[in-house]
Amino acid sequence: MKLFDVYPLFDIHPVKGEGCYIFDGQGNKYLDLYGGHAVISVGHSHPHFVKKLTIQLQHLGFYSNSLKNDLQIELAKKLGKLSNCEEYNLFLCNSGAEANENALKLASFQNKKTKIIAFKKGFHGRTSAAVSVTDNVKIQAPINKTFETELHNFNEIETIEASLKKGNVCAVIIEGIQGIGGVEIPKPKFLEVLESLCKKYNTILILDEIQSGYGRSGEFFAFQKSTITPDIITIAKGMGNGFPIGGVLIHPKFKAKYGLLGTTFGGNHLACAAGIAVLDILKKENLIAHSKELGNYFLEKLKTVEGISEVRGSGLMIGLEFDFPIKELRKHLLFEEKIFTGSSSNPNVMRVLPPLNIQKEHVDFFIRKLETALKLIPTPSPI
Ligand SMILES: Cc1ncc(COP(=O)(O)O)c(C=O)c1O
Repeated sequence: MKLFDVYPLFDIHPVKGEGCYIFDGQGNKYLDLYGGHAVISVGHSHPHFVKKLTIQLQHLGFYSNSLKNDLQIELAKKLGKLSNCEEYNLFLCNSGAEANENALKLASFQNKKTKIIAFKKGFHGRTSAAVSVTDNVKIQAPINKTFETELHNFNEIETIEASLKKGNVCAVIIEGIQGIGGVEIPKPKFLEVLESLCKKYNTILILDEIQSGYGRSGEFFAFQKSTITPDIITIAKGMGNGFPIGGVLIHPKFKAKYGLLGTTFGGNHLACAAGIAVLDILKKENLIAHSKELGNYFLEKLKTVEGISEVRGSGLMIGLEFDFPIKELRKHLLFEEKIFTGSSSNPNVMRVLPPLNIQKEHVDFFIRKLETALKLIPTPSPI
């Protein structure tokens, strides 16, 4: 059997990870400033993470959601405390798309409405409801086009309100910081107005913190730079440091009912051990404050690099915009300098999403290599 060929692949075969480094089978060492799509929060193969998962697997890897699972309760308690969202209830699932799918369903169960407002350049995953509010028609199958969706730009308060006023909008979904769209940050004031409009028109506000959450922005959640209290918050990526786990934080105004949501694998024992290990490490190593401090250092350093047209970001969620496509630059950094960086849906924007325990020396190393690369690569023509 062959693999279904859906991913354009770099010819690199990683076999080992340690902290913010990846090693391939030929002994090459790569600085990982991308964390496999913003997934690696506490670093590759962190000893506490490895130990927790190993011990859990030796005891019990999985049992279903038909029996009580104390690890789920421990995870919810620790998550509530560290994120300062103790009043929310937690539903555990397996991925970001699944978290958003459940969030959208829950919103529709709650107010019985069907239309969703989302934002241009946004990404929310590839399951049916999630992909229908994702701004990329190429990944929508005809079956997904039956959803009622409306896309807006950030700050388009008047048109959003005109739409909400009609009374049929079930939910507004927005990323804490747009990731794949190229690190676009909604202003706190915009989020606050959005919250008040959602309240006014009985619309559910869903904050997708799948990429921007878990300390990446320098706060536990990116929206915490504003004063809002979302109705639903979705999480995944950094939550399991590579172990597949996702979650939906649900405001207490939603009443649970047996059978309303469900999953076979979500919240299994091994996944919970991964989720607890991540929270333990974030707390013990003070990684959220570290993300903010290192992020500020990183942003300041980047602003001194000639050839970048715009640097934007918060904490360790950073976007570098150039006036040319970054494809060759990323390739040079990868193959010549052995540094992983990320792309985005904007061909001119590079994403930098390192593990949260990255140090200044890694930032300085990247800055030096980026400056060299910008001198060496042939000047691409602007698009
Ligand atoms: C903001 C956001 N939401 C949802 C998703 C989907 O997550 P997953 O790939 O785990 O389904 C992603 C993935 O990149 C994302 O960045």
